[in-house]
Amino acid sequence: MKPIIPLKLIKNIWQHLSDKRKYNLLVTIFVMLSAAISELISLTAALPFLYVISSKPEKIIEIKFLKYIYEIFGITKPEDFLIPVIISFIFFAALSGILRTLNLYLTTKLSATIGTDFSVKSYGILLNKPFYYYINENSSKTITSLTKYIDEYVAVIYAILEIFTGLFTSIFLIGGILFVNSYLALIALLIFGSAYYLLSKNINKILRRNSLEIANLQTKQVKTIQESVGSIRNIIMDNFQKYFTKNYFYIDYGMRNKMSQNQFLTYFPKSIFESVGLIFIAIISFLYSKNYLQNVDLVPVLGALAIGLQRLLPSLQKIYSSWASLKSYGEGANRILKILEDSRFNNCVKETKKDFSFHKKLVFEKVKFKYYASQSYVNSEINLEICKGDKIAIIGESGSGKSTFLDLIMGLLEPTKGKIFIDDKNLFLNNLVPYWQNIISHVPQEIFLADATVQENIAIGIPKEKIDLDRVSKCADLAKVSGFVKKLPNKYESVVGERGSKLSVGQKQRIGIARAFYKNAEILILDEATSALDSRTEEDILKTIKEINPNTTIIMVTHRLNTINKFEKIIKIDNGRVQYINKENI
Ligand SMILES: Nc1ncnc2c1ncn2[C@@H]1O[C@H](COP(=O)(O)OP(=O)(O)OP(=O)(O)O)[C@@H](O)[C@H]1O
Ligand SMILES: [Mg+2]
Repeated sequence: MKPIIPLKLIKNIWQHLSDKRKYNLLVTIFVMLSAAISELISLTAALPFLYVISSKPEKIIEIKFLKYIYEIFGITKPEDFLIPVIISFIFFAALSGILRTLNLYLTTKLSATIGTDFSVKSYGILLNKPFYYYINENSSKTITSLTKYIDEYVAVIYAILEIFTGLFTSIFLIGGILFVNSYLALIALLIFGSAYYLLSKNINKILRRNSLEIANLQTKQVKTIQESVGSIRNIIMDNFQKYFTKNYFYIDYGMRNKMSQNQFLTYFPKSIFESVGLIFIAIISFLYSKNYLQNVDLVPVLGALAIGLQRLLPSLQKIYSSWASLKSYGEGANRILKILEDSRFNNCVKETKKDFSFHKKLVFEKVKFKYYASQSYVNSEINLEICKGDKIAIIGESGSGKSTFLDLIMGLLEPTKGKIFIDDKNLFLNNLVPYWQNIISHVPQEIFLADATVQENIAIGIPKEKIDLDRVSKCADLAKVSGFVKKLPNKYESVVGERGSKLSVGQKQRIGIARAFYKNAEILILDEATSALDSRTEEDILKTIKEINPNTTIIMVTHRLNTINKFEKIIKIDNGRVQYINKENI
């Protein structure tokens, strides 16, 4: 396990802040400092106030710097101190309260805004990662990153700000208490300081270990929920609810148990030290009554000390608890930083170049591909050409590598060996992939439908107000789905349900095909996209596809002999070999 070093974490976070946030941070730190100084002033303002109420106003004259202030206001007689002293005490107490509230507002707000900055940035980075990232990573990891880890990241930022607040306040308060009575202040500081230090030293390990376990269990929890919801049919049919619930219990209990441990370790010193503070004051009173502390004015000094400790203890606790939060949530924050720092992908934001076009041919030259986790190649060397306007059927047994071949054509996967050329240009050089993908319409084996209206699904990715409704209905017509849509209560405005749950598989496929028509691309790639349709509907759609634009290049994976016969060229994938065959050899 890599240790989480708070200073390094702070440095890394700082590096990712925008200039605006750095400015916000400086303003917040300024308010923090002002709040800390005002705490000190309100503490020192308490001293003359305490002298006045303990009927020793003449003592105020002995406080040197206050003497100058009173001289400025022309106050000389001890009796005249009462009103200004009380007013200044109230004023500074109120000021420090206001500044503390402002500080709290700014720190919570700043950590939330930084949270949004990073959340949006990580989301963008994740969406821009190449296809193979998603092949290798479980989606629950992505979901957990964007939800729970981001929350932990915000908690860490808040904790860092709190540490600064605590530090500033403590430093000024300690100065103030030293000023009131340096001897007692040093004893208090020694007791509380070393206690917090010893605590943090011993608890460090547990917090860090728990943090890692919490982060892992959070991903596991999301994974379990996703998997159970995804296989709900089987769960109901096979009565698996108990099994899944039991699993879920272990994950959730483990996670919350560690969370509560960390929470306890974060907050338990507070109550203990509050009691110790009171005991400390009792001991001083006792020592005073036994004449061990003769030269101390008990009431004002104890009063000032009580006020000081009452402010100092929460500040020390704040430093400690924020430091503990930093450790508790550090792992989640670290994982977000990893996403942000994965510079391999940070620059591949797609631009769409309008004037890119496919002119002549796509060439596979000695292409071999192997999945990253796998030992063996999916195919042997592929050497073939696909010309513009070709209509090609791809056949082969299940698992032979048809979808993989399509992913290579689309530039979603990069060949492990060999090269792919588009009109004599290497597809994987010069950032060509996004332009190439932009002229391809792909209907995958499993259509993903968003839980939105039919028209939004057909014109996916286009803002609602910019959808061309005529074109939507025309494409639906061509994909033979318009008859069904028109029977829906809200027609094209009807919602299809999560992943299209309110539709049949064939209806989903047809919406997927309509979507491909809407994109109106130069190349149409269909991966068993008509497998759930009856032969007549499929035939009609195929006819339409061919008639739309004779220049459209069509590549279609299919198992149906009837369909294959409608294509001019056939590529067969057999035992890893990918090659053109004659119709007789099917
Ligand atoms: N992400 C992956 N990691 C490792 N191996 C994979 C991965 N995806 C697919 N494979 C393997 O690659 C081979 C080809 O898979 P592919 O999906 O291309 O087959 P297919 O011909 O499209 O099959 P089907 O007709 O069932 O859709 C299979 O043996 C499969 O196990
Ligand atoms: Mg496939």
